[in-house]
Amino acid sequence: MDNQQLREKLLNLKNEAIALIQDAKSEAELERLRVVYLGRKGKINKFVGNIKKGDESQKREFGTLLNDAKIAVQEALESKTKNPPASSEDWIDVTLPAKRPPLGHLHPVTQAIDEITKIFERIGFVRARYPEVDYDYYVFSALNMPANHPARDEWETFFIKSPKHPKYGGLVLTTHTSNGQVREMERVGKPPIRMLNIAKCYRRQQDATHTSMFHQFEILVIDENITIQHLKGTLDYFAREFYGKEISARLRPFHFQFTEPSFEVDFTCTICQGKGQLDTGERCRFCKSGWLEVGGAGMVHPAVLQAGGIDPKMYTGFAFGMGVERAYRLKPGLKLDDIRLLYSNNLEFLEQF
Ligand code: PHE
Repeated sequence: MDNQQLREKLLNLKNEAIALIQDAKSEAELERLRVVYLGRKGKINKFVGNIKKGDESQKREFGTLLNDAKIAVQEALESKTKNPPASSEDWIDVTLPAKRPPLGHLHPVTQAIDEITKIFERIGFVRARYPEVDYDYYVFSALNMPANHPARDEWETFFIKSPKHPKYGGLVLTTHTSNGQVREMERVGKPPIRMLNIAKCYRRQQDATHTSMFHQFEILVIDENITIQHLKGTLDYFAREFYGKEISARLRPFHFQFTEPSFEVDFTCTICQGKGQLDTGERCRFCKSGWLEVGGAGMVHPAVLQAGGIDPKMYTGFAFGMGVERAYRLKPGLKLDDIRLLYSNNLEFLEQF
């Protein structure tokens, strides 16, 4: 064979190898082709036998050409291995429904806040927003709890290191949403006032039914001739709307510095429907004899009205405040034993809501 014929033969050999590699249908076939072309006794090495013995110039020329051919075949093998042949088993069924991206939802506490807001908006309340780090004055003094008053001890307060304001005093993390009461009176000026204040509150406490950060919602109504009946009616309305029509509120005498008279508020237990025992005759462990305590309430104290610039001889009002997590926990069917779970960021838990 002359050089021209040899060159053609080598080119054909190379092209044939690359074509077969590109067409290969499995990894096993690729491996077989590697041995056939690049193996020690493969076709490219055997090609050397075509070179005339003793022809130095032919040897030099084809030495380089053979090397180029090997590299080309090697590269074809590598690129095919990076994009391996689709085996007949993993064909794509384009008619299958696509995987849906996971959909999130609002946090259960946010859902509860939305629901509470809508319930009160339906009877004319407007949601207010007041600071969650507030002056001692609005959290305590204006609520008839002057400095050093022992009633302050009930609110396990986080104090902020800050310079004291000459009139309003130091700063605290709000221990209740009642800090909105006098702020709302100052903002509105002349009654009627119908406030819904929902905010974060903070207390030094942490157990299965308390977290150091939690939420409260607070209702404040001030107008002429407001009585306890309005308070009771509003609480019953909320109980019906939030829990169901057979649930109502109960007022128990209590003491707060900023209301007179004051009450603790209970709702019918949603687990035993107020019976205090289960159908099996067992005592209901969720409540105290059919009622669950959810918050505090009362008729706004005259001293608080005065602090807000409202004449207690002309106007009266009621207020109540409740924990959002606490109220939410009592929803029928929820049985949320440990409210700390709400803030655990545990998706398996949160996805249930
Ligand atoms: N602020 C009280 C608490 O946190 C609840 C309350 C609100 C009581 C309004 C009376 C009136 O316990």
